[in-house]
Amino acid sequence: MTKKILMLGGSGFVGSHLTRRLAADGHRITVITRYAPGARHLKVVPGTRIETLDPYDVDALTGTLAGHDALVNLVGILNERGFGGDGFRRAHVTLVEGAIEACRRAGVGRLIHMSALNAGAGDSHYLRTRGEGEARVRESGLDWTLFRPSTIFGPDDSFLNRFAGLLAISPVLPLARPGARFAPVYVDDVVEAFARALERDDATGQTYELCGAETWTLAELVRWVARQRGMRRWVVGLPDALGWLQGRIFDFVPGRPFSSDNFKSLRVDSVCSDPGFERLGMAPWGLSEKAVDWLADGGRQSRYRRFRQHARRG
Ligand SMILES: NC(=O)c1ccc[n+]([C@@H]2O[C@H](COP(=O)([O-])OP(=O)(O)OC[C@H]3O[C@@H](n4cnc5c(N)ncnc54)[C@H](OP(=O)(O)O)[C@@H]3O)[C@@H](O)[C@H]2O)c1
Repeated sequence: MTKKILMLGGSGFVGSHLTRRLAADGHRITVITRYAPGARHLKVVPGTRIETLDPYDVDALTGTLAGHDALVNLVGILNERGFGGDGFRRAHVTLVEGAIEACRRAGVGRLIHMSALNAGAGDSHYLRTRGEGEARVRESGLDWTLFRPSTIFGPDDSFLNRFAGLLAISPVLPLARPGARFAPVYVDDVVEAFARALERDDATGQTYELCGAETWTLAELVRWVARQRGMRRWVVGLPDALGWLQGRIFDFVPGRPFSSDNFKSLRVDSVCSDPGFERLGMAPWGLSEKAVDWLADGGRQSRYRRFRQHARRG
């Protein structure tokens, strides 16, 4: 059945894939953005409307949400502007509280919320506020579904592409938390899980952890990326004291490519304890099975995709 779905954070990496996936199922999507040019690439997706508004403005959100069947929240940040956690709290808790309030006022009962694996664990602001956001969703009284993915990869991600970019400019890559474990999950599998959860009544009140079929350490993964790109690079695992120092230094680098909060998040392995995909009737891809498609061509495909996306975003 065709549904009307409002998406917060829909202009980003996962949201762009999810919008296309849900549109292909015939759903009508409203993508909320704070900055319209950043969502311009979605204008061509059939049945999709872009609406510019402040997602923290509960009155405005309520007005736009009225008449929709579900709200999907994909807003999340890996780094904040300051240091005390307020930026994380605003994006991961305050925004969720506002979205829940808007659902109640607009009479929208279905909420699908994107969280992250290990939400609530460890001592990073990122994971702590993720846990608080999840608690708000569980207490909301709405028909909620929570997703907790490991790191998500795809041709246009900012994970493999970031490492590929760093490897391209330096023969040596010093790596904090080289032994941190991940089960990277393919973006198309993630959006398929969302699409299934929207269709299934038994997905309400459920939390799904989403992991890919392969588990990697960070160092293994970065070395594999280098090999796929045909680059001979020296990936140097840093002991924790130096990894922490690297995070503290990068805290002050514009754009924060890494931070002390990221370092803290990496202290908790990003691997699943729940077979979320299996519960949704899916078998996920592993990273090496999929990413080889676009890494092994020397990055030409992913550079081309990013160029096209950039051109569309103007
Ligand atoms: N990518 C991963 O590896 C991964 C792994 C685990 C969990 N997740 C979670 O999955 C979700 C989607 O990830 P993604 O990679 O697609 O992220 P993304 O590309 O950064 O997109 C997130 C979107 O959220 C909006 N946004 C960003 N900062 C915001 C803020 N401070 N307040 C309000 N809106 C803000 C932006 O939309 P506008 O600028 O258009 O408003 C942005 O397009 C996030 O919640 C993320 O934490 C991602």
